[in-house]
Amino acid sequence: MAFTLDRFSLKGKVAIVTGAGARQRSIGAAYAGGLCAAGASVVVADLNGAGAQAVARELTERGGRAVGMQVDISNPESAHRMADKANEVFGGIDILVNNAALMVELSYKPIINTPLEEWNRLIAVNVNGALICSQAVVPYMRKRGGGRIINQVSGGAYPATSGYGVSKLALVGITTTLAMELGRDKITVNAIAPGNVASEAGRMAAPDDSPFMQMLRNTVALRPTGEPDELVGALLLLASPAGDWITGQVLHIDGGWILRP
Ligand SMILES: NC(=O)c1ccc[n+]([C@@H]2O[C@H](COP(=O)([O-])OP(=O)(O)OC[C@H]3O[C@@H](n4cnc5c(N)ncnc54)[C@H](O)[C@@H]3O)[C@@H](O)[C@H]2O)c1
Repeated sequence: MAFTLDRFSLKGKVAIVTGAGARQRSIGAAYAGGLCAAGASVVVADLNGAGAQAVARELTERGGRAVGMQVDISNPESAHRMADKANEVFGGIDILVNNAALMVELSYKPIINTPLEEWNRLIAVNVNGALICSQAVVPYMRKRGGGRIINQVSGGAYPATSGYGVSKLALVGITTTLAMELGRDKITVNAIAPGNVASEAGRMAAPDDSPFMQMLRNTVALRPTGEPDELVGALLLLASPAGDWITGQVLHIDGGWILRP
């Protein structure tokens, strides 16, 4: 089978991107734009429904096919409503990007001092949310004869040194486990681990003068910070037929921060 660039095309595919709507310059909005540009119809879903609709409107004005909707990924009924609506509007589901998470909202207390209520909220959104959304879409993917799940993790999981890092490491575990469970259904499950990204939330979480940014400036091979659009190439590889034989993997897109053998 000769390789052609058509293998990166997503024409006729339907994608859901969670967490693409609350802020300007979000990674989710960049992902939704990239998927539209590759030809997919995109459901932009966020806790902030009005924000999701604004992103979808912008994509539609640029010639894409997109709808926005409100979802709480930590609530199974809400996630099922999202999946049913995606199927109703676009006729199926092929791609799920589990991008929504709590990050800038977190207190980053040492986990030994984190009240259980705060911990449970973190796990409910960052870990359970991705599983709940996967459970909601997989029946639709099976009907299509395959699918793609892409989980957004983080360089902050290598190693985990915060509750946030623990949640992303757990999501790596969900990635490898689902990859095994869903392989025979031709559903691939992979993760993207970004480094420091200059989304609005990323800038708030890691101000220029923070010790974290200083550490990155001293250690990252290329440059410490990337733009949301610089993650999109990896997403399109994992979402398209070009990535047919890739599953259970974590792609580190971080300028050479986490160097793994
Ligand atoms: N910005 C970075 O430097 C960076 C680095 C590594 C990983 N990440 C990850 O990338 C993703 C996007 O980050 P971002 O910088 O665009 O941040 P962001 O805060 O703009 O995006 C997260 C989105 O998730 C949504 N969300 C939160 N709880 C939700 C829920 N219960 N249901 C539905 N939506 C919910 C928020 O409303 C928000 O729109 C996150 O998973 C984050 O952990 C970001």
